Amino acid sequence: MVQPANIADWFGIKDKVALVVGGGYGMGEATANRLAQVGCDLVVADIIPERAERVASDIRAMGRRAHAAIADMCDREAGAAALEKAEADLGGIDLMVSIVGQAAWVSFLDTDEETWALDQSRNLDCFRRCAQWVGKSLRRREAKGAMVAIASADGIQGAPMHAAYGAAKAGTIHLVKTIAMELGPYGIRANAIAPGTVATTRAMEGSSHAARDARARDMGVPLGRACTMDEIADAALFLVSDMSRYITGVTLPVDGGWLEARTDIKNFLPTPGEAWVKT
Ligand SMILES: NC(=O)c1ccc[n+]([C@@H]2O[C@H](COP(=O)([O-])OP(=O)(O)OC[C@H]3O[C@@H](n4cnc5c(N)ncnc54)[C@H](O)[C@@H]3O)[C@@H](O)[C@H]2O)c1
Repeated sequence: MVQPANIADWFGIKDKVALVVGGGYGMGEATANRLAQVGCDLVVADIIPERAERVASDIRAMGRRAHAAIADMCDREAGAAALEKAEADLGGIDLMVSIVGQAAWVSFLDTDEETWALDQSRNLDCFRRCAQWVGKSLRRREAKGAMVAIASADGIQGAPMHAAYGAAKAGTIHLVKTIAMELGPYGIRANAIAPGTVATTRAMEGSSHAARDARARDMGVPLGRACTMDEIADAALFLVSDMSRYITGVTLPVDGGWLEARTDIKNFLPTPGEAWVKT
């Protein structure tokens, strides 16, 4: 058996072209950096030009090729034009992580047409369009590949005040299964990640890590803290890489155990620093 000289070789995606949709900030930026660290070239797609350019420039400084694809990736034509330019620059896209999302905070009865449509567009449709584009590109080239959608724990369990968002993420989780079935025979995998509560750059703008961790404890997250962006990036790396080569159609919760926890878990959680065993 060949022994990889370098740990990055274990991932088996060196020199692959990876697209991160929403790669200019937050968990998208963390994911783009992580994929570059294991030897991918990156298409950093973002609606905000400075963000895409900054992350692409950081990746070039790491010695990898990078293309800033500046477009509203939820818009069919603009997204397709940006991806065509990216492939002309870097070559065919092999891997994709789709991060763009949006969540209205409104009760089901107050969810109007516009709110519903926006959450479907930014979550389910954006992933669907990018996955169709990348899937067709892979098939044209008869290439193998992998896609990952960032869904949400709200797409798995009922989500009060997130009716439109939860339905869109549930749709994303279902779509991933269908893509996995239809494209599996061609060596193209599709999986999703369901984060619980993440300390993203955006969440930190009006808050702090400590507050996000306290919220996680309040929610009853067994690991007692919020997820970091690097932890989402690590899960995305696993799911696009050869480390998960026999895994397709699944949704991986990255939620500190929240979805599996019993509802009265808070009664059993120690406060930080406190011993588990009470005497
Ligand atoms: N923060 C959490 O606790 C949490 C929990 C579960 C799931 N999620 C999911 O994580 C994802 C968001 O992660 P984040 O908060 O790090 O990202 P974010 O909202 O900060 O956005 C990431 C990047 O996407 C870009 N973007 C937004 N709309 C775009 C568009 N139409 N076209 C191209 N680029 C666009 C933004 O400019 C930004 O640079 C979403 O899918 C969200 O549903 C988040």
